[in-house]
Amino acid sequence: MNNVEWFDFISEVTDDIITRHTLGGLFLQVSRKAITSFGYPLEEIISQSPYSFIHEDDIAVVKNNHTFLINERKSEWVKYRLKCKNGDYLSLQSYGKLIHSTLDPLGYEIILYTKILDDDDFEKNIGDVFQMTRMSGDDETLSQKYKSQKKRADKSFHHHTLPIPYNTEEEIRILYRAINSSTNGITVADCRQPDMPLMYVNPAFEVMTGYAIEEVVGKNCRFLQGKDTDQPSLEILRRAMLMAEPVVVILRNYKKDGTLFWNKLELAPVRDSEGVLTHYIGIASDISSEVISRNQISELNLMLAETNDQLRIERDREREYAKSLEKINELKDDFVSSVSHEFRTPLASIIGFAQTLLKDNTISEQLREKFLHIIFNDGKRLARIVEDMLDIARIESGKSTLFKETHDIVAIVKDAMSAFTYDKEKNTNPLIFKTNSSIIALECDRDKIIQVLLNLLTNAQKFSPPDEEIIITLAEEEEIVHIKIKDNGIGIHTDDIHHVFEKFYRVKHPGQEIRGTGLGLPIAKNLIELHGGTISVVSTIGHGSEFIVTLPKRVHE
Ligand SMILES: Cc1cc2nc3c(=O)[nH]c(=O)nc-3n(C[C@H](O)[C@H](O)[C@H](O)COP(=O)(O)O)c2cc1C
Repeated sequence: MNNVEWFDFISEVTDDIITRHTLGGLFLQVSRKAITSFGYPLEEIISQSPYSFIHEDDIAVVKNNHTFLINERKSEWVKYRLKCKNGDYLSLQSYGKLIHSTLDPLGYEIILYTKILDDDDFEKNIGDVFQMTRMSGDDETLSQKYKSQKKRADKSFHHHTLPIPYNTEEEIRILYRAINSSTNGITVADCRQPDMPLMYVNPAFEVMTGYAIEEVVGKNCRFLQGKDTDQPSLEILRRAMLMAEPVVVILRNYKKDGTLFWNKLELAPVRDSEGVLTHYIGIASDISSEVISRNQISELNLMLAETNDQLRIERDREREYAKSLEKINELKDDFVSSVSHEFRTPLASIIGFAQTLLKDNTISEQLREKFLHIIFNDGKRLARIVEDMLDIARIESGKSTLFKETHDIVAIVKDAMSAFTYDKEKNTNPLIFKTNSSIIALECDRDKIIQVLLNLLTNAQKFSPPDEEIIITLAEEEEIVHIKIKDNGIGIHTDDIHHVFEKFYRVKHPGQEIRGTGLGLPIAKNLIELHGGTISVVSTIGHGSEFIVTLPKRVHE
């Protein structure tokens, strides 16, 4: 006894709304109660989609229920509203069941039991539905009544079943050939069977996994996951399959011999002409070597980056260490020479004049007084230099202080110059002072300004050939004064010029031994800046240098 016969029989004896549908949902047969409840004549229902009668707000929920029934083989009640022939909506609740069908080319159909909500007889009638779902083959207990209707039912079924398009044999053969010769593993799973078993795998799948076709057909393909079933990609796969959608995932799979391989799996749903999911086609590619080399490359890159970082840190550390060692050495050397250098000029002056005074009794009282004055001033300057040497640390920490008073900068410059007397014999240089002002009041620390000028003049002498003039220019503007010390010496190389004010930096002059601490200019710079002024230098190799000191007349605190 087939489904049509059973249905006709149940239809005859029940007062329930029972309907038969294709997998796509189209009506195949309806019970008498359906006709009377909905008000449509049979010909307006058969081969129609129930969705065309359902309230538009309820279509989605019914479709979901439909998909769930097909994909999961699970039946659930669904509530919705159906528009009757007279335009009224009936509130319904349906329960579907997927059953085998020998008549339907797809092998399945859906039987729907529908209850009109508020129907008190619902509980009583549900038993009939379960009876229905067990329908199969001939039944000896088939009633005479049923037999008399069989002919009509068969006719109705064939008349209302939609034809399934088939490919020509040739087309099928070509497709089969293509699939068989593909290098990708191709699988086909039957979505109409419980647990979607594989119904076909191609030779490439056998090669890829090590499983023979006869070992896998009839099984769900999850066996390739072994115990590794907790993969995030599987969640994506499951969700897509629930919605009957295509999906691409990368899975950890295991061959028959237990070897891990990375499977890029592309799943494509296959639907029948009514849009019902019937099969899934899987295309599997072993991308292990890609994944491994990608992983290896990123691992190597990571290692390389780490090693590079480590090397860079080490190198920086070494460089810093070497630099600090160099600095310490330089500091030590320069400190010694700095001390002697800074002391040399005033000491030479003190010793020279003291010696003259000691040896020469013929010196006039006036000259003697002048010499003593110079000795006294240079002694004081020495003390100040010692102080400055100690001050370097204070300068560095920004704790250096000035003893400011109002002075005549013209006199200060002259005082500084007086420490250098021109002596042709001694290869010194004539100092030429140029100014338009006889007196310029300047708020400053006299000794500090003298210290700066002495330093600049000493440098100018040091780097000038004998007898070359050193020009000192003093000019004033409303708020500032400019002191320029220009020599015609060897000049400073452009590579050095930006460093001459750095602590311990000493310009190297190959072939010449020029003394210096490397502290003079940094101290000078700092002292001038403490006065709110600036110091700069312009120089041309072979043509000498010019140091320009600019000072505000009044120090702004
Ligand atoms: C056609 C088809 C091919 C499949 N191929 C594979 C595969 O190669 N490897 C794999 O791990 N899962 C594959 N699957 C997925 C599993 O069969 C299964 O659907 C998945 O593990 C999720 O279901 P489960 O949570 O019930 O295991 C395939 C599924 C289909 C429908």
